Amino acid sequence: MGRVFITRRVPGDAAATLVAAGHDVDIWPGDLPPSTEALAGHLAGADAAMTMVTDRVDASLLAASPGLKVIANVAVGYDNVDPAVASAAGVWLTNTPGVLAETTADYAFALLMAAARQVVASDRDTRAGGWKAWSPTAFLGVDVHHATLGIVGLGEIGQAMARRAAGFAMKVLYTGRNRHPEREKALNVEWRTLPDLLAESDFISLHTSLNAESRHLIGAPQLAAMKGSAILVNTSRGQVVDQDALVAALNGGWIAGAALDVTDPEPLPLTHPLYSTPNVIITPHIASASLDTRSRMAAMAASNVIAVLDGRAPPNPVNRPLRPRTSR
Ligand code: GLV
Repeated sequence: MGRVFITRRVPGDAAATLVAAGHDVDIWPGDLPPSTEALAGHLAGADAAMTMVTDRVDASLLAASPGLKVIANVAVGYDNVDPAVASAAGVWLTNTPGVLAETTADYAFALLMAAARQVVASDRDTRAGGWKAWSPTAFLGVDVHHATLGIVGLGEIGQAMARRAAGFAMKVLYTGRNRHPEREKALNVEWRTLPDLLAESDFISLHTSLNAESRHLIGAPQLAAMKGSAILVNTSRGQVVDQDALVAALNGGWIAGAALDVTDPEPLPLTHPLYSTPNVIITPHIASASLDTRSRMAAMAASNVIAVLDGRAPPNPVNRPLRPRTSR
């Protein structure tokens, strides 16, 4: 039996599965994440943790949690925990690959469509009484069909995005750390360097993980290289974009719009200038938030916890601990 701390309430059966497997489950009850102190307090006595992207777990926290054997992130991204630090501490780090790609791509495409066709702005205007009569000039957007989509990062989510784009007869370009000739053929997508992709695309959708190379991958020079009519969609991580440069680009009309499900920081303070720049949609990091998918993510995290507490390797490891901590 182990003690499992879950840092937020999660949908689905994950907690019940852990209890059925004989574990004690402690669920943080708040709607907001635990503070650093509260997280430390709960982890100190835990054998396992199911964490969210909002929970930063560092070396000192791991050192102060000697019983902790696994951090099962309820996310595919794990920029909140350094895998090398977890390995050095003897702690498994796991994530939730596979289960959220289609749902996240659905949302990225929804943002793309919403930005292209002014769905959010026209709804706001309608509610404010702006709909006086049918107008031949109101809310003129840009076509999505037959446009060019540039995908940055052709991983699971990027590929799911390419499949959606095919249904809209879009030309699809991609860039990333590696070329994928078999994916190019299967998805009918073309490789470009980042500068070429930026120059050619009508829509640019970011699907890279956050790492030292991708931090501020989209900065002032990249925004300046985009078409004036381009729309940037970000469902990856806020820090992939230099947000100050994005504000300048939107205010200066270097690009036509942006649809962001992720920001830097999160939540974005209401005083942030991004809110008052034209043609921006901002949503609260919900791209994977369908009930089914979030339930599957939590279930996957629970199965990673159960494996480690059983003394097995977890099914979805991100790291390999040097000397895994053993059960008491
Ligand atoms: C969400 O942002 C995730 O990484 O799953």
